[in-house]
Amino acid sequence: MRTQVAIVGAGPAGLLLSHLLHLRGIESVVLEARSREYVEHRVRAGVLEQGTVDTLVESGAGERLLREGLVHHGIELRFGGQRHRIAFEKLVPGRAITVYGQQEVVKDLIAARLAAGGQILFEVDDVVPEEIEGPRPQVSFTHRSQPLALQADFIAGCDGFHGVCRDAIPPGVLQFFDKEYPFGWLGALAAVAPSSDELIYASNDRGFALHSMRSPQLSRFYLQVAPDEDIEAWPDERIWAELAARLETVPGWNLATGPVVEKGITAMRSFVAEPMQFGRLFLAGDAAHIVPPTGAKGLNLAAFDVTVLTEAFAAWYSSGDAALLDGYSRACLRRVWRAQHFSWWMTTLLHSFDSYDAYDRRLQQSYRDYVCTSEAASTSLAENYVGLGRR
Ligand code: APR
Ligand code: PHB
Repeated sequence: MRTQVAIVGAGPAGLLLSHLLHLRGIESVVLEARSREYVEHRVRAGVLEQGTVDTLVESGAGERLLREGLVHHGIELRFGGQRHRIAFEKLVPGRAITVYGQQEVVKDLIAARLAAGGQILFEVDDVVPEEIEGPRPQVSFTHRSQPLALQADFIAGCDGFHGVCRDAIPPGVLQFFDKEYPFGWLGALAAVAPSSDELIYASNDRGFALHSMRSPQLSRFYLQVAPDEDIEAWPDERIWAELAARLETVPGWNLATGPVVEKGITAMRSFVAEPMQFGRLFLAGDAAHIVPPTGAKGLNLAAFDVTVLTEAFAAWYSSGDAALLDGYSRACLRRVWRAQHFSWWMTTLLHSFDSYDAYDRRLQQSYRDYVCTSEAASTSLAENYVGLGRR
């Protein structure tokens, strides 16, 4: 098998890259370890920056997103018994976010790829990027028990944090930056109308809680829990009781409950691998960087990476100019580190840390107060949350 760009991973990064390349006349094949059913139903975050929405719409895969996505012009912070709205329309005029589940983005992109004759091989095993230092890289893999090799000009490692592409880079090349948080998030999807028009980021002495949503009938919640917490210890009644204890902290506000249709726990970490390229292998999305979900940046960073990578491949194929490919890592990492800082900062602002002493708690309180009372501080939050300019 031969193609121009071999893409490993059919998450948002790999699928969007494949589609953007197709629009530039560049051929690719996507190799995915899981089934189509699995990737289309994997519940993940769901906040899209305007730039991500624009990219999807311009690519032709945004029709349902425009119809069903929920456009939000603010978020609410709730702590100290008070609510504080971060009003995007006032602080960052003309900019908003769209709430739309990541698995819906994945479904739309798979549909767009297949409609355009794109090739995605699901349920491949034993994926190994090879010869990445030379001009003829390839990916070997097995598909339906058959050993195969996909030859390409380039390999895009879009295989997420647990993928194999990052590890194919020789030892000593990459530098890793890592931070683990002493908690995880329990996520729950519930068949109940949202109790709020906008997202609520809440915190009290029991910990952090987030009220998000997917549709007028479907709500999404998160709770700060211990990183090694067992989901079996969280029957639905306990989830609702804890959400109520952390969210019903302002007068007259009640949480509507309903059947929990999906739940799980994920650890929280920050991670960056630098540089995001070695030889003919380019890393994009979670394969190169992870942020804690508090800033809702993961999917947006992945979309940004592949937009930059598409431009770079397009330049190389049209004129042989490798300057953009050479600058790929640098161009992405600037945005990655802004998102790293913002995500760490939001996480620190909003969670309870067992390690905090009385002094640390006062500092946190003071910063929360500053964000709620200073227009400069809330503008900084708003600007980062809706997403900085695309370049
Ligand atoms: N071979 C083939 N595919 C693989 C392999 C492998 N060895 N390892 C992992 N994959 C696949 C996974 O099954 C997954 O479908 O790569 C895909 C990676 O997708 P994501 O994890 O969704 O990563 P990415 O596309 O970079 O999207 C980033 O996902 O994790 C969230 O919060 C994150 O929203 C962000 C987004
Ligand atoms: C979500 O809706 O899944 C979501 C929203 C905001 C976040 C994280 C996740 O910060």
